[in-house]
Amino acid sequence: MWSEAEQRELEEILKKYPTKRSALLPALYLAQREKNWLDDEDMEAVAEALDVPITDVHAVVGFYTLFRREPTGKHMIHVCTDLPCALRGAEEFYLRLTERLGLPPEGGTTEDGLFTLEAVPCLAACDKAPMCQIDLQYYENLTDETIDTVLAQLRAEAQQETKA
Ligand code: FES
Repeated sequence: MWSEAEQRELEEILKKYPTKRSALLPALYLAQREKNWLDDEDMEAVAEALDVPITDVHAVVGFYTLFRREPTGKHMIHVCTDLPCALRGAEEFYLRLTERLGLPPEGGTTEDGLFTLEAVPCLAACDKAPMCQIDLQYYENLTDETIDTVLAQLRAEAQQETKA
């Protein structure tokens, strides 16, 4: 399942960690990068490469919202709607965003396959709501205008990649 480039990248990752097992998160993130989600084969490949039981890999993938077990859009948008953020308007912010992206209130993937939106529990930036995490990056103190600017930038980057 690993491409040659990914093999090399995995070897570089492993050099940075004291044990193979401690590289589990970055190895999973690498395995997920190509298609944005992890199937059984991906998780088995990580377990084998790191000499970790497959049950441990499943446990980690199930715990972290950054890992996905189903196909998603190119960019994953997690909006925290937990209580402290809700008190700062995060639920309304999230619902307005679903509408602008043409999604139902429970979120989902945009028609163009570019974004998957999900409401999630606390992301540890409670005083900076409304906030969201897009892929690995946090965006805080958001307004409808600022998130739209971020999404427009990601759309433009995707168009550039398509042309290249
Ligand atoms: S409650 Fe939203 S980041 Fe903590």
